[in-house]
Amino acid sequence: MFSPGNITEKLRVASLPCSGEVVVDLYAGIGYFTLPFLVHAGAAFVHACEWNSHAVEALHRTLLLNGVRDRCHIHAGDNRQVSAATWPGTPPRCSEGGIPSPPLSSQLQLQDVADRVNLGLIPSSEQGWPVACRVLKKDTGGVLHIHHNVETPPVLLAEQGSAEAASPGGEAQHPAEDSEKEMLGARLRPEWQQWAEATATRIQGLLAELHRRPWRSSVLHIEAVKSYAPHVHHLVLDLECRPVLPLE
Ligand SMILES: C[S@@+](CC[C@H](N)C(=O)[O-])C[C@H]1O[C@@H](n2cnc3c(N)ncnc32)[C@H](O)[C@@H]1O
Repeated sequence: MFSPGNITEKLRVASLPCSGEVVVDLYAGIGYFTLPFLVHAGAAFVHACEWNSHAVEALHRTLLLNGVRDRCHIHAGDNRQVSAATWPGTPPRCSEGGIPSPPLSSQLQLQDVADRVNLGLIPSSEQGWPVACRVLKKDTGGVLHIHHNVETPPVLLAEQGSAEAASPGGEAQHPAEDSEKEMLGARLRPEWQQWAEATATRIQGLLAELHRRPWRSSVLHIEAVKSYAPHVHHLVLDLECRPVLPLE
């Protein structure tokens, strides 16, 4: 949650045009994205889902400190459950340190509410895709921000063209290292595009199945957040999902 590598994504979220929108943050943690949505991006309301009681407590405090507690509903528990408890809500049990903890058997009751859903879980947020589809507004749809770690084979410098391939000293060509260097030169890699398109197709299918009508999904943007491990990149796919209108 404190990874400095996520700062670019935090700033990007802060600059998103979310004025008047209802956002669902499926993996809210201590509010790393919930807060920028509320404080900077203009979101009208955020439903923040989180199952770790310590994170829930910290999220509650930071919302208070930032003066946005009234615009956020914390859903404490596993976001994949079908119906839900809120926090604070039913009288909390107390953990050892006296910090109130949310009921463990809480379930998420949200559906048909969101203009935007944030799925900030890596290595994959795939388990949350059906939930994201359910919470998205069924008549107008919205945008999903899907985090995922994608394996990216090293680019042989020779593939980048002779000008780039030759180092100033004329050294032998070698695979680019997975480091800041690689991220700096990061372009839209074919593997990222393939993953984005496969994800768009999957989500479109989930939405069509859920609502028994056709939906379309369009890749708006692929953001490379950070190099997570050698040849593994943390990406965010911005996916616009809309129901297909009868006359379209
Ligand atoms: C990688 S953290 C991200 C938190 C925040 N988005 C950030 O970037 O700081 C993922 C969070 O999701 C929570 N989480 C994971 N699976 C969950 C689930 N099924 N339901 C609710 N919360 C979940 C974890 O407890 C953790 O706080």
